[in-house]
Amino acid sequence: MTSGKIRFKLYDQVSIMEKRDEISSFLKGLGSEKRTLYGGYLEDAYPEKFDRILKYTIRLVAAFDENELIGLAGIRKNFGKGLRKYFPIVRAYTVVRESHQGRGIGSELSRIREDSMRNVLAFHLSIILQDNTPMIKIVKKSGYYFIKETGGYVYHIKSLNPFLLPLTPFVVVVYRALFLIRSILRNHIL
Ligand SMILES: CC(C)(COP(=O)(O)OP(=O)(O)OC[C@H]1O[C@@H](n2cnc3c(N)ncnc32)[C@H](O)[C@@H]1OP(=O)(O)O)[C@@H](O)C(=O)NCCC(=O)NCCS
Repeated sequence: MTSGKIRFKLYDQVSIMEKRDEISSFLKGLGSEKRTLYGGYLEDAYPEKFDRILKYTIRLVAAFDENELIGLAGIRKNFGKGLRKYFPIVRAYTVVRESHQGRGIGSELSRIREDSMRNVLAFHLSIILQDNTPMIKIVKKSGYYFIKETGGYVYHIKSLNPFLLPLTPFVVVVYRALFLIRSILRNHIL
């Protein structure tokens, strides 16, 4: 681990594609960080699954120690499934190399990513493994609305654009209702 000053850089969709090789080798070099990254959904077939996510990533913030890439925070376009068909809901991911964790880098990556999305009319749905204390702390201090803790995951939501802020409680209610309907169906029909 180097001890230089951490530098942050924001990329748009075009420059993300140009940096693809560097990002891919960073992801391949990750170890235990993979277990909780993106809710753990990527752990198998990794990093191939990430290639698809990268393709739909609209903003990416990278953290460098000297010239070494040590962290990433991305936000990905809507895939149009489930509730996302009706609401503009995006998903995001954040990762900091283990050697650099606990120094505020993950918080700063998330903050820069959110700032870069202020002009986009969208909600960010955050799905975090319930034992991922550092990421839950980041979300809690960043003004996210708690939706539900279920199935090992904690769900939060936040409007990225200030104009959508008044709608957020409504989206929370819709999500909670959907969770309720799903659990009723599971318990009584399946
Ligand atoms: C989640 C992650 C990005 C956080 O990065 P980080 O640089 O360590 O985060 P920060 O240093 O900004 O810390 C964030 C908060 O968690 C706390 N924290 C950090 N490490 C912690 C630990 N091991 N246990 C408990 N709290 C911890 C910090 O004190 C801070 O809380 P505070 O704001 O109240 O002071 C990093 O742990 C990571 O890459 N994990 C693997 C991938 C992942 O799970 N990504 C999130 C889902 S996509």
